[in-house]
Amino acid sequence: MFEHHMRLTEEQQAILDGGKGETLSKVMETLIRYGELFGAEKMVPVTSEYNHLVTSFGLKAMGAVYELMDTLIGAGALSGQKFSVDPKPLDPNVPANFIQNIVFNHFMYTEQERYEAQLRNLGLLSDSAFTCTCYMDAVGNIPKKGDVLSWSESSAVVYANSVLGARCNRNSGIIDLMGSIVGYVPYFGLLTDEGRKADWIVEIKTTKKPEAQLLGSAIGMKVMEDVPYIRGLDTWLGNEMNDEACTYLKDFGAATASNGAVGLYHVANLTPEAAEQGESLIKPDARVYVIDDAELQRVYDNYPIIWKDKSAKPKLCFMGCPHMSLQQLKDWTDKIEKGLEENGHEKVLVPTVFTAAPAVLKQFEGTPYCQRLKNTGVILSYICPLMYMNNPLSGKMPVITSSNKLRTYTSARYYTDDEILVQLTKGGR
Ligand code: F3S
Repeated sequence: MFEHHMRLTEEQQAILDGGKGETLSKVMETLIRYGELFGAEKMVPVTSEYNHLVTSFGLKAMGAVYELMDTLIGAGALSGQKFSVDPKPLDPNVPANFIQNIVFNHFMYTEQERYEAQLRNLGLLSDSAFTCTCYMDAVGNIPKKGDVLSWSESSAVVYANSVLGARCNRNSGIIDLMGSIVGYVPYFGLLTDEGRKADWIVEIKTTKKPEAQLLGSAIGMKVMEDVPYIRGLDTWLGNEMNDEACTYLKDFGAATASNGAVGLYHVANLTPEAAEQGESLIKPDARVYVIDDAELQRVYDNYPIIWKDKSAKPKLCFMGCPHMSLQQLKDWTDKIEKGLEENGHEKVLVPTVFTAAPAVLKQFEGTPYCQRLKNTGVILSYICPLMYMNNPLSGKMPVITSSNKLRTYTSARYYTDDEILVQLTKGGR
């Protein structure tokens, strides 16, 4: 008999005792063991309408995952909620050479079809539910304030916690699925009121609106897994959670979560909990981090450039990690058209891929912007750029991006949005 110290409800105990079958009992045991590692004393119900899973790729090396999925499906231990899932790793529209295609299709993602069939059996929302920005209106997986989630994709977790006011820990792949199957998650960390209090005060003192991905990177690297309370960002973002603010916070949050391990941030006078509770969210012993123009420049200058030939001409540009919003696609269309016109070019000078959720791409296709963007040579895709990059072959390619998450996990080189625009429309650096 498995020994634990949690206070379980009758129903939770019954599941653990095998009342709903041996497989569900094992799932419950796994979640209890996971929670106890973090000092959880109880399990609480998952309350969101939908779940979101991080594992979207049928990587050959993950044989144990596919066996586990078969066991769950065979035992009828299906996800209690329908779910969206991170982006697919493959898209024939994205430029890849002959050898890369062999590597992708015959060595890396050989289990993709099998895995997608398993996801459909377990409760995948739809065939187009593959995106890390499941919280976009067009996708529709938008948790409510106070909802308890069993998600794990770090960029989605930090968005759900901070921008939407939902409650979710930075779980791992498979644990996200298990919480949804059993309907409970262990109560600790960012699920608790105390765990949502700020350990850091970040003072923004820049002379212009900070680049979202750069600011997020600076804060992430400083506070790591702690919770920051950010003062002064409302000067640049305003006090309304409108489309522009949400898009900024999407990119900012993904950088805090990947350059550090932030799962929740508060922006004074803007994000829901900060707007309601103000500075009472700050712990008495909170440390202070001041960010001015010089600090952002220092962070930027310290990014290592791991290209073999540091002056190589970029072979590919990836934008949209996390996936772009509809407004970002429209704004970039305008910017690229204008840049090309000013510099006397018709097509972008670096092969460029913009990634977005399938549902957002569909929305975009219904606007006149889509054809205009395609005319500039930019390719639209639903892919996850990280899945494309994380192999030695792609790793050798000089790829540029304005995603600080992609920079952190791969050899892609970071440039600000303005610098990327120059490279795409004028050339040089
Ligand atoms: Fe999304 Fe893939 Fe980037 S999941 S955040 S596009 S690494």
